[in-house]
Amino acid sequence: MNMPITNPLRVGLRQERVISPQCLVVFGASGDLTHRKLIPALFELFNQRRLPSEFAVLGCARRKWTDEEFRRKMAIAIGPIASENQNSWDQFASGLFYQPLDLDKDNDVFLLKKRLEDIDRLRATHGNRTFYLSVSPDFYGTACRSLSLAGLLDDPKRSRLVIEKPFGRDFASALALNRLVQGFANESQVFRIDHYLGKETVQNILVMRFANTIFEPIWNRNYISSVQITAAETVGVEERAGYYESSGALRDMVQNHLTQMLALTAMEPPGHFDPEAIRNEKAKVLQAARLADEMEPWNCCVRGQYCKGGTDSMPLAGYREEPGVNPNSTTETYVAMKLFIDNWRWQGVPFYVRTGKRLAKRISEVVLTFREAPVHLFDAVGGSPTSNQLVLRIQPNEGAEFRFDVKSPGSGMRSRPVEMEFSYEESFGEPSDEGYVRLLADAMLGDPTLFTRNDEVEAAWRLYTPLLELIEDSPWQLPICQYESRTWGPAAADALIAQDELIWRRP
Ligand code: BG6
Repeated sequence: MNMPITNPLRVGLRQERVISPQCLVVFGASGDLTHRKLIPALFELFNQRRLPSEFAVLGCARRKWTDEEFRRKMAIAIGPIASENQNSWDQFASGLFYQPLDLDKDNDVFLLKKRLEDIDRLRATHGNRTFYLSVSPDFYGTACRSLSLAGLLDDPKRSRLVIEKPFGRDFASALALNRLVQGFANESQVFRIDHYLGKETVQNILVMRFANTIFEPIWNRNYISSVQITAAETVGVEERAGYYESSGALRDMVQNHLTQMLALTAMEPPGHFDPEAIRNEKAKVLQAARLADEMEPWNCCVRGQYCKGGTDSMPLAGYREEPGVNPNSTTETYVAMKLFIDNWRWQGVPFYVRTGKRLAKRISEVVLTFREAPVHLFDAVGGSPTSNQLVLRIQPNEGAEFRFDVKSPGSGMRSRPVEMEFSYEESFGEPSDEGYVRLLADAMLGDPTLFTRNDEVEAAWRLYTPLLELIEDSPWQLPICQYESRTWGPAAADALIAQDELIWRRP
């Protein structure tokens, strides 16, 4: 019997979630993402017994590997997890297959089709397929065209496309890519992945906001004076200069991960908990967002690049000294900017967004600072109040904290800020799944909630267009500021936020 994949619409996050029989086809199977993230995530799903027995993975890439070689390479790549669970690995690996494929060759694509039909017979995967494009973005178009030509995208209930970032490199290219993809597939078949949405703590922004009565009434311009969204990394560019040099922090982190955190933090409550209702609200809020000064973006944005730093015993190279990086590179490894959202909820509230590599600490968080008390009752007796702050800790030390003032013990009325804290680890005891576990499962379930829709991606690019154009057309107006490795970024970023008499949180 032919069983279609569950209807992707209206599945939502709330229903019983059983992955239907299917074959996951990974394009770019010899690449880094496949062995670092995808295969470990699938193995985790297998160990959690969340994969159906009628399941297969077909790895595809140009290399001429056999099934056996692919299995062996994946076992080596994921390391001890495979050898420590040898029985499970053997069972899981028996569902891994490999097909050499050059997407430019029509004949290869017909061989792929034939191979998929063989796998359907062997593994009872019922013609259901999820195609994962883990290839260079230059091949997204070719992949869609080839799959469509071979009739592999014809049935929207049986075939899906998962597309990795970057989805375009500016508004025009994202729009063109959306049109191209939609020429071959329905939007309901397309799953644009942003791994931040797979993080428990990012999803928790929705639950904190919409499952509690205390937050929503004060989640607006009447009570919140500013918002900071940070994704700070301690690592440098590592071995990814080839990609990063033409991307930079703005395209690599801000347009996608930070913008997704912004959308979840700022969106209106959806009418229902279903994928389209949530994505409608995210798209709407992104359409209302803008750079604080669109005409002169240099007034509201700072770009930085790490230079050398570290200690005598552990010196760290500057970005321009990293392997593969142009010694005169002007690619930014740090961005800070101020945004506004022109709607009733947020009018006038500055949203400060920053990200950087080689910063002092690895930390991603959303910080909401509340307005000061209207009357400083205790000033005269030594208490100068601090603003209340709600910190949503995305990673590490996942959780949340709320800062408020209390009376310091002793005579007088001196106040001091204290924190109330929630920690995922303390409350739930177990580490949460890697983002890819959740996202792969959702893509195979056909649940698009945690994937970005075409209009969201376009709105996110449009938001940064004035800045991208400035960098392209007159970069001297926004020069790159160097910052020492393992510090908190360029001084210009401190000056940016100081204009509003604020400081960046340094957790
Ligand atoms: C990726 C970026 O999307 O996210 C990397 O390409 C970055 O440059 C990474 O290091 C950060 O992800 P995480 O989950 O470690 O915060």
